Amino acid sequence: MKKPKLRSPSGMHDILPEDQPHFQKIEKTCESIAGFYNFQKIETPILEEAELFSKGVGVSTDIVEKQMYTFRTKGGDFLALRPEGTAPVVRAYLEHGMYNLPQPVKLWYFGPFFRYERPQAGRFRQFWQFGFEIFGEQSSVIDIQIIQIFYNILKELKFKDLIIEINSIGDRQCRAYYKKLLVSYFRSRESSLCLDCRRRLRENPLRILDCKEEKCRRIISQAPQIIDHLCEECNSHFKEVLEFLDELELPYRLNPYLVRGLDYYTKTVFEIFDQSLALQSPEEKEQGQISPALVGGGRFDLLVKLLGGRDTPACGGAGGVDRIVQSMKARSIKFTAKVPTHLIFLAQLGALSKKKSLTLFEKFRKAGLPIAESFGKDSLKTQLGRADKIGVRYCLILGQREALEGTVIVRDMKTGKQETVKIEKIVEEMKKRFRK
Ligand code: HAM
Repeated sequence: MKKPKLRSPSGMHDILPEDQPHFQKIEKTCESIAGFYNFQKIETPILEEAELFSKGVGVSTDIVEKQMYTFRTKGGDFLALRPEGTAPVVRAYLEHGMYNLPQPVKLWYFGPFFRYERPQAGRFRQFWQFGFEIFGEQSSVIDIQIIQIFYNILKELKFKDLIIEINSIGDRQCRAYYKKLLVSYFRSRESSLCLDCRRRLRENPLRILDCKEEKCRRIISQAPQIIDHLCEECNSHFKEVLEFLDELELPYRLNPYLVRGLDYYTKTVFEIFDQSLALQSPEEKEQGQISPALVGGGRFDLLVKLLGGRDTPACGGAGGVDRIVQSMKARSIKFTAKVPTHLIFLAQLGALSKKKSLTLFEKFRKAGLPIAESFGKDSLKTQLGRADKIGVRYCLILGQREALEGTVIVRDMKTGKQETVKIEKIVEEMKKRFRK
């Protein structure tokens, strides 16, 4: 057959039945970890006011500048398909007065997000994330709990070779000073920077640190590092985070160039990578780049206030489901879907018995007994063939005679023995047999 003309939009993909076990496994793992650490689930709309992201994530970030799907509604609202989950969760925290609840408030989410990215390995325009956010605690132990949660989720998903990259980008005060140092360092080398970095020098100098261009990397390697310029408070916060990481024996590496692509971060920022895996495109491999991060996050102590609330420290992170599924598949990590095992099959013959079968089938559902059928098939032989294939223990046969007499034949597929049971007793009878 010719390839169909209509395909899914570029960068967006179907999650086919064979991918569902992986997705379900990830969601279930998040759910159980969330329960253990006492997080509550939240779902926010797919659409938000675009202003939430320009204010929250930052106007000069790639996400807001280049990657948002926005549109004006008939009513004149300017909306965006959510590119990330933190700003929406902060909006909900404020809108529903969650600051009045005992703090910390711990929320988690699982859902689709949208970014108009250049499609490449591990980068989609619609992708799924799970996120965990903690509001109202400034202790460094919270940063560690967040990192630990993501690390534990990936471990439960059988990732073996994980590495946490970590950095501190300071707070408003020390970052402002560091930015000045950085700008003066790069300004004297501006002509050797790539075009993007020259623009970043004016708009968002910290982002230069994460440029992948070879000529920029050489200059960046000599640039002043924020770690050396943290204020006392940020410095001791970061030291504590590292001490906790040591205590928990979590594998980590300091990355002084990790700044993250969203403006709301303060103090700790981190990403988690699977070191064993090459998810990259051939050109990324050529440039010696490692696989994209599976998880990213950090502290965002200023965001709640920025979006109209009180001063509220907060910390969180998000993991990319599609990337995790891709790397699970690349390493042949398999999870089988939990399909109910059918131990009973209901076969029918003739118009009246088909009608009666439909009612009987519903009785089994209500009783919580899984039962299989092939109502679309009329031949008894085909139906019994199907029952055999599924490997059921009992086949219930409702022929014309049984339909008239109000009975069902129960055929034991193991022994071949058959007996007749009254139709109103059959559910109870089957329950009894499985209880034995
Ligand atoms: P982020 O680093 O932009 O952070 O995204 C988190 C994770 O989502 C990434 O590590 C990656 O696995 C996945 N991801 C991001 N973009 C894509 C894409 N285009 N295709 C596939 N996967 C992708 C945030 O979104 C922050 N809201 C995380 C956070 C929560 N920080 C604090 N709280």
